[in-house]
Amino acid sequence: MLEQAPVRGFDNREALETVKSLLEVFKRRRSIRDFSDEEVDEQIIDSAIQIAGLAPNGANRQPWIFCVISDSKIKGAIRGFSEKEEKRFYQDPHLKNWQETLQPLHTNQKKEFLEKAPFLIAVFARNLDPKPEGGYRPNYYVRESVGIATGFLIATLHLSGVSVLTYTPTKMEFLRKLLNRPRNEKPFMLLAVGRPSPEAKVPSIDKKSLDEILARYH
Ligand SMILES: Cc1cc2nc3c(=O)[nH]c(=O)nc-3n(C[C@H](O)[C@H](O)[C@H](O)COP(=O)(O)O)c2cc1C
Repeated sequence: MLEQAPVRGFDNREALETVKSLLEVFKRRRSIRDFSDEEVDEQIIDSAIQIAGLAPNGANRQPWIFCVISDSKIKGAIRGFSEKEEKRFYQDPHLKNWQETLQPLHTNQKKEFLEKAPFLIAVFARNLDPKPEGGYRPNYYVRESVGIATGFLIATLHLSGVSVLTYTPTKMEFLRKLLNRPRNEKPFMLLAVGRPSPEAKVPSIDKKSLDEILARYH
């Protein structure tokens, strides 16, 4: 069955003003690694996840699940597992190139933000979905779909004034076990979510210019 598409009015001048002002807002988005204990209303998180759930996705299978964690014991356990994994990563002589690439970001094996951020969101990708009659059916373009949905989530939280760190320890399987998720769900990303500490510092990094990331074929 088909239905009328939700088409809305459009004015080029207004649209341009909108994107120009959004550009200024997004120039101020940064990954935050030092959070404050300022309260963040959980309804903001819930609504942002609803928006993430509206993302385009392969065959509309919506192959994602967002686990919101505020329990301090679970956050402590996630930090414990992550720091163990990070220690291995930062000490592995075979990963020298990767470690050097990270140097300008001033990151290290300490991950206090995993306990300080009021919320962690563990994003899982569902490669398979259970069928009502038993067994599983595959999903399509799972990583692309979950990546786009997570982008929607990060952008929405930023627009609401809430900061995010996209955190990806090299091995994340512990998250599935810790959060009791079924085997058809794969940990995709861990987001630390909250308000930045007033003293939060971010690495001085450059973003590529428009000319560097845009190729025109007119
Ligand atoms: C897929 C992905 C994985 C990332 N993993 C980590 C991570 O494990 N630890 C970390 O501190 N930052 C991580 N980041 C954040 C990046 O370092 C950060 O986005 C990048 O340096 C640009 O900085 P900005 O977000 O402040 O613009 C990750 C970002 C992405 C998109």
